[in-house]
This record gives sequence, C-alpha cells and structure tokens, in this order.
Amino acid sequence: LRLAVLASGRGSNLQAILDAIGDGVLDAEVVGVFSDRPASGAIERARRVGVPAVALRPAEFTDRADFDAALFDAIARVQPDIIVCAGYMRLLGAAQVEAWHGRMINIHPSLLPLFKGLRTHEQALASGALEHGASVHFVTAELDGGPVLAQARVAVVPSDDTASLAARVLDREHPLLVSALQLFAARRVRLDGSSVMVDGQPL
Ligand code: GRF
Repeated sequence: LRLAVLASGRGSNLQAILDAIGDGVLDAEVVGVFSDRPASGAIERARRVGVPAVALRPAEFTDRADFDAALFDAIARVQPDIIVCAGYMRLLGAAQVEAWHGRMINIHPSLLPLFKGLRTHEQALASGALEHGASVHFVTAELDGGPVLAQARVAVVPSDDTASLAARVLDREHPLLVSALQLFAARRVRLDGSSVMVDGQPL
C-alpha cells in the first residue's frame, strides 16, 4: 500500500505509521510526505528516514487553487494508493477532494460528528462530555464531515485540562490510525457512495 502523508505539524501520527511499517505490522510504504510548513516536525521525520518530503509555502502561490494544484501534482508524482491527512491544517481544494474520493482519509481528534474543526479538546471540556476521542474518516467536501471508518474513545476525568486530554487522545490516535491503514493494506475497506464497507459489509 503506497501512502502519501499530508502533515503540518509535529508528525507524531506520521511517526506511528513509519514505526508500524518498520515493525512489520503495517504492510505499506510511505512514498511521500507533503506539508505546507517546511519547518514542521513531519518533514524532519520524513527526511530522517529517507522518505521523499515536499514542503510548499502557501505564501509563494497566487491563491489557494494554485497552491492546491501544485500540492496535488507533487502528490500524484509519487503515485500513492491513498492519501493520509495526519494533522494537515489547511482546507483542501474541492476538486482534489473529489478526485481522491474514497482514497483520502483524515485523523481528527474528536468523536465525530462531535467537535469538528479546531480546538476539539477545549470544545469537549467546555461541553461537559464524559467521553472524548479520535476518529479516522474519509475526506469529503464537508470539513471533518466525511464517513467515519474507526474511532477510539477515552474517558474525560474531572482533573482533565486540554493538555492532559489531548495527550491521552493522541496516545490513542496512533494505534487507531495504524489499524485503519491495516484495513486498507489488507484491502478490507472501501467507500461505496457515502457508506464505509468493511469486508463487504456496511459499517
Ligand atoms: C492530531 O491530534 C491529529 O488528530 C490532528 O492534529 C494532530 C496532529 O498531531 N488533526 P501530529 O502532528 O500527528 O503529532
């Protein structure tokens, strides 16, 4: 399974993927890492292990469409089977999302459909939720709104602040993302319209 990973930040989810591949538990190859932040941890982690890493600065493009076209041209060159958004913090172009329908996933730190967008841990605490977590979902035109493939749940405890909750969720994100990718590697999952099919059955 050829993976392109999009990441803007520290890249711990990328690292979880690389480690799972290294440990022989994920039958895949990261064929490229793509970022809108040249100085991101994700780019550094990719370079450290010799994975092709491409960072494009949005400011160097005339507009979003121009940036998205360049980004997805670069992605297409490495011929991935799927694109994994792992902490990629920019909106994706509608045309690119459409073109990769069913072949692009995202990890989001909430139990979707709850708490889309940013600052999910703050949102969860503010809502008084007793449970929080992370979701892996297919990317569609609606931000954080595509069909959910897998979730991991954590209990919210009274002493939690955003940092403690974020850390506990992040611990669960890594195995969650790896297990979702194992389904792809085993060709056990596909998107049929808006239904996630696992082993031929709707989820
Ligand atoms: C994760 O919490 C991910 O769910 C969110 O951004 C964060 C990225 O962390 N979308 P990292 O860069 O993978 O360490």
